Amino acid sequence: MPILSAKARVAGVVGWPVAHSRSPLLHNFWLTRHGIDGAYLAFPVEPGKLALAVDGLAAAGLRGLNVTIPYKEEVFGLCNEITDFARRVGAVNTLRFEHGKILGDNTDGFGFIANLRSFGVDPTMGPAMVLGAGGAARAVVAALRDEGVSVTVVNRTYARAEALAAEFPGAKVAPWDQATEALADYALLVNTSSAGMHGQPPLAFSLNRATPMLAVADVVYVPRETLLLREAVAKGLRVVPGLGMLLHQARRGFASWFGVEPSVDQELIDYVAGDIPRFEDKPIERSSS
Ligand SMILES: NC(=O)c1ccc[n+]([C@@H]2O[C@H](COP(=O)([O-])OP(=O)(O)OC[C@H]3O[C@@H](n4cnc5c(N)ncnc54)[C@H](OP(=O)(O)O)[C@@H]3O)[C@@H](O)[C@H]2O)c1
Repeated sequence: MPILSAKARVAGVVGWPVAHSRSPLLHNFWLTRHGIDGAYLAFPVEPGKLALAVDGLAAAGLRGLNVTIPYKEEVFGLCNEITDFARRVGAVNTLRFEHGKILGDNTDGFGFIANLRSFGVDPTMGPAMVLGAGGAARAVVAALRDEGVSVTVVNRTYARAEALAAEFPGAKVAPWDQATEALADYALLVNTSSAGMHGQPPLAFSLNRATPMLAVADVVYVPRETLLLREAVAKGLRVVPGLGMLLHQARRGFASWFGVEPSVDQELIDYVAGDIPRFEDKPIERSSS
């Protein structure tokens, strides 16, 4: 890390808990690479103290913050301005403190699309099926619809898929138990559910009906190679792991706080990946749902 002067630019991440966050690792990697007089820190903010912490950190001269679980919705009320994308997604993950104002953005959609493109996958190549209807799904559906992609939302709990699709004009919905059969009609499959994540059951979703043209993306990045991605690789399909989404979404915050456009390259991927297991070490029974 570069030596810090009294002019050092400071940013960070607020969450509870926050010790799991990989954001300090990657932002400090970029700060070192670019020799910037700056630092990025993790701030564990207890429930009930978000407003106090954000206002205090802004008053102390920080450039901005990332916001992680459980505060991505609560932080809305603290922002003076919110980007249209963050408003549609219903979550803010990046704050910029500027001229006494707090500006809120959501960079997950940008990160998702940039990650696809970095793997040579053009999101506009055909219809997309999005599995899941939580926070990650909202960003992915919004980003794909902004690209003009035809999107079908599929979720274990059908009513949540319907509710999500209703909020994004043009998005369709399909029942979970019919989705695998319909896969041949899609160019892109995106898992945004938490199934396959460390400590969760693997995703119960067959790729048997996929055509060779299907690209499979997973937003889960712990482990780096989910069972879904391994099955896709075994079938010779193109895959897009979730770690790159995390790295690309961070570019926008870093550029606005530290004034340098950072890049995502193999050295950064290897550095952050070193902190994340490649496979799930203790396989859990495949979910029956
Ligand atoms: N790569 C990145 O930068 C990035 C960014 C954001 C999130 N993520 C990852 O995305 C994942 C989801 O996060 P989130 O915030 O969207 O979570 P969330 O809001 O809690 O939503 C979880 C979703 O997963 C579904 N689900 C959970 N267990 C399932 C199972 N066994 N089978 C099928 N569906 C299941 C839920 O379905 P029900 O509605 O039926 O409960 C729900 O739709 C996490 O692993 C997170 O780390 C990655």
